[in-house]
Amino acid sequence: RTEDAANGTSTANGGGGVKCEEGGVTVLRPTDLSEMLAAGTKEVHQKAENTEFVKDFLRGRIRKELFKLGHVALYFTYSALEEEIERNKDHPQFAPLYFPHELHRRDALAQDLQFFYGSDWQTQISISPATQRYVQRIHQIGKDEPALLVAHAYTRYMGDLSGGQVLRKVAQRALKLPASGDGLNFYMFDNVSNAKAFKQLYRSRMNELELQQDTKLKIVEEAVLAFQFNIEIFEEIGEVGQTLEDDVFDAAPVHGEMQGDISQ
Ligand code: HEM
Repeated sequence: RTEDAANGTSTANGGGGVKCEEGGVTVLRPTDLSEMLAAGTKEVHQKAENTEFVKDFLRGRIRKELFKLGHVALYFTYSALEEEIERNKDHPQFAPLYFPHELHRRDALAQDLQFFYGSDWQTQISISPATQRYVQRIHQIGKDEPALLVAHAYTRYMGDLSGGQVLRKVAQRALKLPASGDGLNFYMFDNVSNAKAFKQLYRSRMNELELQQDTKLKIVEEAVLAFQFNIEIFEEIGEVGQTLEDDVFDAAPVHGEMQGDISQ
């Protein structure tokens, strides 16, 4: 930080930051990767929240066919992400973020897909064009620019830890899924007892990575890209939704408890 302050650049781009005196002017300059990511993805996060598919989901307007397509996209996404994470688990710029036991979702998603599609689920699903583009990028990063893999892990796992419980309740009620949790394993982080505390640990691990400032900026850019890939998948599913009849909603909108605070 001292070294950065000596450079005299003032890049106060929002979010939390370090207060520095520069020529008598106090500027905010986030240098912690976690703060840079939160600030740098704020706008695209809002854009993701405002896609029709996501808004409908939060309102409890979930059609089972679309929910299943969402799960299929997640399955392919996490398969790619976790394959690249395994490849890079000893890479010094990723290793501190390697939490397979706590975070990995591929097996949970496989179980959910088995519940929704039956035992031959693997022959019934296929990768959509938007998911294919996302997956290709994840593989490219994992192989060629592993320092940027953190952007992809951050975008998915921190988001899942933030919204999981509320989304699970909404989906369970709207799709009338059993209380046993069948079909909802994706939202259950059985090995994370306190999501808020875990997110704090993850943030501090991100901040302790040995990274040059320009690499941190590239990671933020890559996270914005990761959000955009997610948005493209939501839009793609939304388009499928427009081809479905409206009366195939599985339940009326949910009221009350879905308004919960997902910012744990
Ligand atoms: C964090 C809400 C969709 C990725 C958060 C937080 C909230 C939130 C309240 C703050 C948690 C905290 O302060 O600790 C929502 C809502 C969504 C939504 C209401 C949809 C309606 C998404 C999507 C993604 C995503 C689609 C990415 C695919 C993230 C990430 C964080 C986060 C990465 C961590 C931010 C940070 O602390 O650096 N979300 N989110 N969210 N969300 Fe979302």
